[in-house]
Amino acid sequence: MIQGIVDLAVVTAPINQFPQIIEACAQKGAAGAVIISGGGRETGEQGARIERQIKAAAGQSGMRIIGPNCIGIAHPPSNLNASHMPGTPAQGRIAFLSESGGKIIGSARIIFTASGTEGEFAIMLADSWQGKGIGAALLKSCLAFSKRYGLKRVFGVVLRENRQMLLLADKLGFKKASSPASNEIELIIDIEKLDLYTL
Ligand SMILES: CC(C)(COP(=O)(O)OP(=O)(O)OC[C@H]1O[C@@H](n2cnc3c(N)ncnc32)[C@H](O)[C@@H]1OP(=O)(O)O)[C@@H](O)C(=O)NCCC(=O)NCCS
Repeated sequence: MIQGIVDLAVVTAPINQFPQIIEACAQKGAAGAVIISGGGRETGEQGARIERQIKAAAGQSGMRIIGPNCIGIAHPPSNLNASHMPGTPAQGRIAFLSESGGKIIGSARIIFTASGTEGEFAIMLADSWQGKGIGAALLKSCLAFSKRYGLKRVFGVVLRENRQMLLLADKLGFKKASSPASNEIELIIDIEKLDLYTL
């Protein structure tokens, strides 16, 4: 029996043990549980039944449950990493939420420069998720976020042969700059003038 208060339970047991574990957590007054292990409704009717049992086990306790079959949660400002990510993300101004069965399919971020008026974008999607409009959606969100935080310009450096990124940049209205000898192209967009509704 665990002594003291339980804020958060992290569960990695086999799925058929979840209902009784969650029931014990609820009785203990745990505020939440993260169920990392898989085996829920993504596996079929039996898994779906266990998910219903988990919900019933939490009952009226008010306990929040994330999972099953998830990468977990991390909140760097609180030094919390209840996930199976290889490391803890750095503190910053980006929140990342995905429903992906334990796989991160991509990420996009704006790295603020020391000037306070410019930010560099970095974006990457897993191969099988490219060409579905996700890159455009993520980069648009990054631009909206940059505008909200008062940046004047956003830039990124890409290789000349990066056709997909150059097409995406054209679509969003980035300008290109490069020297003939260089294999890289700088993409720049003026955030101040950007009308987010026309993106
Ligand atoms: C570059 C990258 C982020 C683009 O994301 P994506 O989700 O594949 O792109 P989208 O599906 O949102 O495409 C956006 C637009 O770009 C163009 N485009 C992208 N891929 C294209 C392709 N293979 N063929 C033609 N047009 C393409 C289209 O204009 C498309 O607009 P549309 O859907 O209206 O036709 C992604 O391919 C990636 O992660 N590449 C590897 C990492 C990288 O190069 N990052 C950039 C350097 S920081």
